[in-house]
Order: sequence, then structure tokens, then C-alpha cells
Amino acid sequence: MAATLPAASASAVTTELHAGVLVVRIDNPPVNALGQPVRAGLLAAVEQAAASDAVRAVLLVGAGRAFIAGADIREFGKPPQAPALPEVLNRLELLDKPVIAAIHGPALGGGLEVAMAAHWRLALPGARLGLPEVNLGLLPGAGGTQRAPRLMGALAAAELMLSGRHLGAQAALDAGLVDQLADGDDPQAAGLAYARQLLAQGAGVRRTRDRAISDAASAPAALDQLAAETAKKTRGLFSPARIIDCVHAALELPFEQGLQRERALFVECLNSPQRAGLVHAFFAERESAKIPEARAAAPRPLQRLAVIGGGTMGAGITVAALDAGLSVVMIERDAESIARGQKNVEKVYDGLIAKGRMTAEARAATLARYQPGTSYDAIAEVDLVIEAVFEDLEVKKAVFRELDRVCRAGCVLATNTSYLDIDAIAAATQRPQDVIGLHFFSPANIMKLLEIVVAAKTAPDVVATAFELAKRMKKVPVRAGVCDGFIGNRILAVYREAANHVLEDGASPYEIDAAVRAFGYPMGPFQVSDLAGGDIGWATRKRKAATRDPRSRYVEVADRIAERGWYGQKTGRGWYLYPQGARTGQEDPEVLAIVDEERKKKGIVPRSFTHEGIMRRYMAAMVNEGARVLEEGIALRPLDIDVTFLFGYGFPRWRGGPMHWADTQGLDRVLADIREFAKEDPQFWQPAPLLEQLVAEGRNFDSLNRAAA
Ligand code: CAA
Ligand code: NAI
Repeated sequence: MAATLPAASASAVTTELHAGVLVVRIDNPPVNALGQPVRAGLLAAVEQAAASDAVRAVLLVGAGRAFIAGADIREFGKPPQAPALPEVLNRLELLDKPVIAAIHGPALGGGLEVAMAAHWRLALPGARLGLPEVNLGLLPGAGGTQRAPRLMGALAAAELMLSGRHLGAQAALDAGLVDQLADGDDPQAAGLAYARQLLAQGAGVRRTRDRAISDAASAPAALDQLAAETAKKTRGLFSPARIIDCVHAALELPFEQGLQRERALFVECLNSPQRAGLVHAFFAERESAKIPEARAAAPRPLQRLAVIGGGTMGAGITVAALDAGLSVVMIERDAESIARGQKNVEKVYDGLIAKGRMTAEARAATLARYQPGTSYDAIAEVDLVIEAVFEDLEVKKAVFRELDRVCRAGCVLATNTSYLDIDAIAAATQRPQDVIGLHFFSPANIMKLLEIVVAAKTAPDVVATAFELAKRMKKVPVRAGVCDGFIGNRILAVYREAANHVLEDGASPYEIDAAVRAFGYPMGPFQVSDLAGGDIGWATRKRKAATRDPRSRYVEVADRIAERGWYGQKTGRGWYLYPQGARTGQEDPEVLAIVDEERKKKGIVPRSFTHEGIMRRYMAAMVNEGARVLEEGIALRPLDIDVTFLFGYGFPRWRGGPMHWADTQGLDRVLADIREFAKEDPQFWQPAPLLEQLVAEGRNFDSLNRAAA
């Protein structure tokens, strides 16, 4: 029989006595984050257990879908509110009655730290254990760096914390993080059974702090090696090195001193701008899916898809859809093309099999949902079509006329165009309300970003359906409006142009790439061009030549390179040399000579640029165009631009995205830069009115995010 003891906690934590076992239930939807009321409630529950003779053991369980998903991320950066988690967990661990954690769903960050401070741990089938603080620029700051090494070994603990990965129940048992597995989905029932078993066995208090670290002898050397690898891998990141310092402290210091060291390093991380950038990225990634149409309309049915075109994008999109459990009919223009399209799809799965990441059976089961063909009749009953044919308006219009003819009423008709006018494509049909842009990024089965481009007549439930598709495909969706290049490619075109100006004014492509990498990007713009193929950008420039403003500055270096057939990696040379199929480029003196030649033609005397000078121009161009995109309503909020660049363009996550970055610099400083650059080129460097307005009002971009929430 359950008996409720006198109120010991806030409602976020409730207690109930079950035959000597005090069930402490954390109930803070949606994921039981450890906000102040939860911490206070846990502390009160521990005091209650300590004070009552009726309590022989304590069982911690989470209500709803999680054990505890960690600290309440919304509290970071605000003044701390007592009690602090380390204090609560020390009290919990020092209780002289056995404490058991029954884990179902996520036990992450501070959530796993709670479990590690308990004396016994039980995991149910859906449990996910991890210390993902590194993804937020942090380290486990409530004893996790000291307790995890004592449970699983120092090296394994360091790897768990540096990777941020989650372990399932069995893996957590194997690692030593949990003691026992249980079936079922009721943590309270399983936990009570385990508690009774432990009590019957006389198993008592067993504190993690008292345990020895199993690999204490070998870990220090292994950690040094890990530190060197980590420094290389996590370029510019602050918290990983501190995580390793904490593990050293666990090996070298008594527990209490280790905790103090952890706290000091945690506070350093908490106060770092990287933490602010990463927390911004965490919420921005979730906010971008919150758009007016998704609130107002329900998605249409979504089971059978068609993809038109089996080239680079069509094949990637097909794989993404198959991986999401959908069925796909792929249509190509003739037998030869569809055979190639089919090969493009199969190649992806063959690659997975070769790497041991897929079985032949799983490949067959997945491809059973794939139907290649050349007749549009096969797509009459599908729910959604994604067109990925050549980037040519007339070709696309012809495809959409055909789709309009064959597809059932209510079918969503999407285009993967990169630049073309979706309103014009929609106008080729009798049902423009069903037409939308779904701009995937290459490789479409891997890249997380999906720009969802809402045209003038797109119906709200079509937009909601597109967001539902993104969710099923585990993409990060961003709502965009129609313009040349939508959010990402439009802004890219402008900062890419700024890079060209810097090139012509004196920096080499290699210096520019190095500056961009030092900022935190994996690659610089000239490396990206070599990877994507210089012919693609060249075709775009030729297409835009007719509409280019003759007064604007145009840098011809890229054309000179492309004219020579130097398209990048695929042709063995581009901005860089790639001898014998090398993936890493070498600097090319002939490219530098071409750059020099172009400078001479225009009478430009080259000057030198520091990395900072390069990046100030690169970023000011990005932010200024971002402000224009906002002004025009192409992006709903600054965070949508941030998400676009974080997930589609390799922008360093710890900087939070370009608009967040601008806030950290101060918008007045960015505007001052633009005004300074405008002295040389007033045509290119026209400040966006929105940026001027925000500076005049003393506001930042985040104020727009908050106003839209
Ligand atoms: N704090 C505050 N809110 C959180 C949260 C947290 N720790 N974790 C999730 N949420 C919120 C999300 O923002 C989202 O809110 P909205 O519905 O308003 O958008 C909601 O909970 C649901 O989250 P998801 O959409 O992500 O749901 P999911 O089922 O896909 O994933 C999850 C659930 C695996 C728990 C995932 O949310 C997640 O990974 N959360 C973060 C976990 C984490 O990093 N914990 C460590 C925190 S740092 C720490 O604990 C430091 C320390 O040492 C004390
Ligand atoms: P691709 O040239 O690799 O593939 C196009 C495919 O369309 C070819 O296989 C061709 O046979 C087929 N096709 C042409 N006309 C057709 C028709 N009438 N019916 C059926 N199939 C037809 O081109 P890619 O790179 O896949 O690009 C496709 C679209 O995706 C373009 O609109 C492009 O702008 C866009 N896109 C491309 C990205 C990239 O990085 N390659 C990124 C995002 C969008």
C-alpha cells in the first residue's frame, strides 16, 4: 500500500512510500530537466528519507518520457539559484540508506550525474545514458567527471564525455554505468522489484566516491594521447581540454578536491562565449520548426513519395526518404538515365555494406520500397513529389505541367531548385496552392538542412506537410521565402563576392581559406569551390551575367580559372593542385599568377590583409545580407539564418550562427565596419536599413527572435 508522507517537496518532485521504499518521482515536463524546483524537491526528498525511520531505501524515477534530460538549459547564463546540483548530489550520495535510480528514456548530463550519485542503477529498455555537455560548450559539473571514471574507468569516461554520445541500456551495463537491466516500460514497478531484491540481499549503501578507478595505472598516458587527438579534432573548442583536465583530477586528487577542480573548470566553461553560442544553436535548432503554418494546419498524409530525376540530388533525396521509412517512385527521362539513377541509389547502400554499417538483408528490405521507372503514370497516387531535374526553368515547368496532369488532387508538388522562381514554377500548374520548394543540400541523405520555401500561393497545410517530412527525415527545417537563392545561397553569393574583392585587393585564395578555417569553418570558400566543382559557379555566373549591374564590381579571376577547365578536385586542379587524385590541395603558383594578372589589368596595387581583416569583411557581408533577408521576410527570424548556416554551410556551431555572432560583436561594430568598407566601394557596402535601425534603437538580432517567440 502506498502512503503519502508529509509534503517534502515542490510539485516537480513528489514522494510516496511503498513498503519501506521511498519513491521519489521527478515530474517536470517535457523532459524532467533539473530546474530549481526539481533540485529543491530532490534535496527535500533526501532530507525526508534521512529523517524517517519508515524509509529503508530510496527509489528515483522520472515521470513521462525521460528519467532526467539534464540541467535546465534555459537557466544557463542567469544568476544561479540554490540549491546547486553538486550540493544536492553530495547529500544524496551521503545518505545512509540505499538509493536506487531506475532509468527509462534519457538520463543525460545532470540526469546521469543524479544516477551516478545514487548507489544502485537499473536501466529499462529505452534508456539512453550520456554526458553530452560538450555539445553545449560545458563539462559535467555536478560530480560527473569524478564519478564516471570511478564507475566505468577513466579513459572510457573521458571518451563518453568528449563524444557526447548516448549509450543504450546494454551498452551502459557493459560499460559499468548501470548494475542491472529490467524489462518493461514502468520504471517504478521495475525499480521497486529491484529495491526489494537489494534489501532482501542486505545490499546497502554503496557510494561511487569510494570506488577505485579501474584503469588508474594506464589512464594517464592514454589520456595524454587522447588530449593530443582531441586538440586536433575539436579545433578551437574550449571545453574538451577541460574535460580531460577533470579526468586527470579524478585520477590524481581525493574526491572532494576533484569536485572543486571540476567546479572551477565548469564555471570557466559556463562563462565562455562558446557556451552561449552552443546553447543558442541548441534552441535555434528546435525553434526553427516552430512556424505559423505548422501551428495553424495539420499535415496532409505522407507515405508514398515520388522523386523526379535520379542525379546527384534525386538519388540523395531518395535515400533520405527510404531511410525515413517512406516508399519512393523515382522517375527519369529514359531507360538509360533511370538505370543510372538506380545505380546512384544502390551505390549509397553498397557503401554502407562495405563499411559494415548495413546488412544485405537491410539493404534488400529498404530497396523493396524503391521503384524506379520512366512513366509518370506510376506516380498518380503518391502523396508528395520532389522534382530534382536540371536547373532550367523551362525543363522544370514542363515537369510540373506533367505532374499537374497525373497526380491526384491534394498531392504536394515540391521542387528542389536552388535559385529558380518557385512562383513561376507553380504557375505552370492549375494548383499553385500545392506547390512548395524543398531545397535539400548535397549530399541530401547526409546534410541536415532543409530549406522549405513557401511560395506566394502555397497552402498552410502544404507547409505543415513539408515540416512533417523534414521531421520524418530527421532534417533541420528552415522556412524561407522566394528570392534568388532563398536564405542560404543568397547570402552566400554576397559574402563569396566579398571574398573575391579581398582576393583581388591583395590576399591569396590560400590566405583567405586559412582565415576562414581559423575562424572555425572546416574549409575555406576556395576549397569548397574545388570540392563542389568550379563549373557549377561558372554556370551560375554566366546565367546572371545579363542581369548584373554594370556599375558593380566584378572579379573575373574565377572565370579565368574555369575557362582553363580547372574545375577543382574532379579535374585535378582548380584553385589548388590535386596531383594523382589527392584530396588535399596544394597551392598553385600559376593561380597566383592569374590573380596577379587580373589585378594588373585593373591597376590594383595589392595590399596585405590579416586574418582578422579578411574575416571582418567576410562576416560583415554575411550579416548585412542576412539583415536584408530579414527585412524582406525571406527569413522569419534571425535564428532561421543561424540554423541555415550551421546546418548547411559549415558555420562553426560554437559561434552560434552569423546573426548570433553579430550580436556577440555588437551590431554597432559590424555597422561601423560596413561604413568603413563603404568608403572604398559604396555600391557593394550599402548598410541594410534593418541593421541601421537596430543599432539606432540599441537592439540586437536576438531581440527579434524573442519578439517572434
Ligand atoms: N533543458 C531545458 N529544456 C530542454 C532540455 C534541457 N536539458 N532538454 C530538452 N529540452 C526541451 C527542448 O527545448 C524542447 O522544448 P520545446 O518542445 O519547447 O521545443 C523539449 O524539451 C523536447 O526536446 P526535443 O524536441 O529535443 O525532444 P527529443 O525527444 O527529440 O529529445 C532529448 C529529447 C534527448 C532529451 C533532447 O532534448 C536533448 O538531447 N536534450 C539535451 C540534453 C542535454 O544536453 N543535457 C545536458 C544538459 S547540461 C547539464 O546537464 C550540465 C550539468 O552538468 C548540470
Ligand atoms: P544532376 O544533373 O545530377 O541530375 C539531374 C537529373 O535530372 C539527371 O539525372 C537528368 O537525367 C534528370 N532529368 C532531366 N530532365 C528530366 C525530366 N524531364 N524528367 C525526369 N528526369 C529528368 O543535377 P543535380 O545536381 O541533382 O541537381 C538537380 C536539381 O537540384 C537542380 O535544380 C539543382 O539546382 C538542385 N540542387 C542541386 C544541388 C547540388 O549541390 N548539386 C544542391 C541543391 C539543389
